[in-house]
Amino acid sequence: MTHAFDRQYWDEIWQGDRALAMGAGAPNPHLLREVADLPPGTALDAGCGAGAEAIWLAERGWRVTGADIATAALDRAAERAAGRGVAGQVEWVLADLSVWDPGTRFDLVTTHYAHPAMPQLEFYDRAASWVAPGGTLLIVGHLHQAADSDGHGHDGSHGHGHGGDAPPAAASATAAGITRRLDRAEWDVVTAQESRRVPDGHDGPGVTLHDVVVRATRRR
Ligand SMILES: C[S@@+](CC[C@H](N)C(=O)[O-])C[C@H]1O[C@@H](n2cnc3c(N)ncnc32)[C@H](O)[C@@H]1O
Repeated sequence: MTHAFDRQYWDEIWQGDRALAMGAGAPNPHLLREVADLPPGTALDAGCGAGAEAIWLAERGWRVTGADIATAALDRAAERAAGRGVAGQVEWVLADLSVWDPGTRFDLVTTHYAHPAMPQLEFYDRAASWVAPGGTLLIVGHLHQAADSDGHGHDGSHGHGHGGDAPPAAASATAAGITRRLDRAEWDVVTAQESRRVPDGHDGPGVTLHDVVVRATRRR
């Protein structure tokens, strides 16, 4: 890895050339599929970026907190939410998820490709700790793959699929790696999936995203 995924890095990303493309995306298809059968309640989108997922949840009746470390991302998200008429249903919070304490628990905690400057699985532990009893954890992340498994290396660049570079290994995880940390006395794992997809639109032609998706329900 040639840089730290710190506030300065993300501020520069969200103020730079890639921000327009990253901020224009459709909500993540894994979220749409996994959340479809859940009754709306409170939700946290951890590392919400420009808010596509948080706004989608708000439009379906969830009361959403969107947290991100980058002010420019949250500004863009708030603007989009206002444009969609759901400004009142989403609270945008400037927060460093590696140290933040939300002070409450949520019926749904979801995160899509967020990787703070801390070990990835420890970040997912933190996200899990924010789920209320009976609530759902939905992790959508970069799938960890061997560098030579398909010709995509982990070269330390960082396109998140928004430009074609593979993410570095340190920002990635596997389904087994994530589910291993969920105590089965406390969690029911509903989905543990690794997949590839070619996103529509802004990611550009020829971009394949390698995703890991874990959904688990915290027992009451
Ligand atoms: C790859 S982007 C994904 C954004 C959005 N979830 C999506 O799927 O389009 C990762 C997001 O995590 C945010 N992020 C990274 N480190 C963070 C941290 N320590 N605390 C809060 N947000 C963070 C970044 O600012 C960025 O918006």
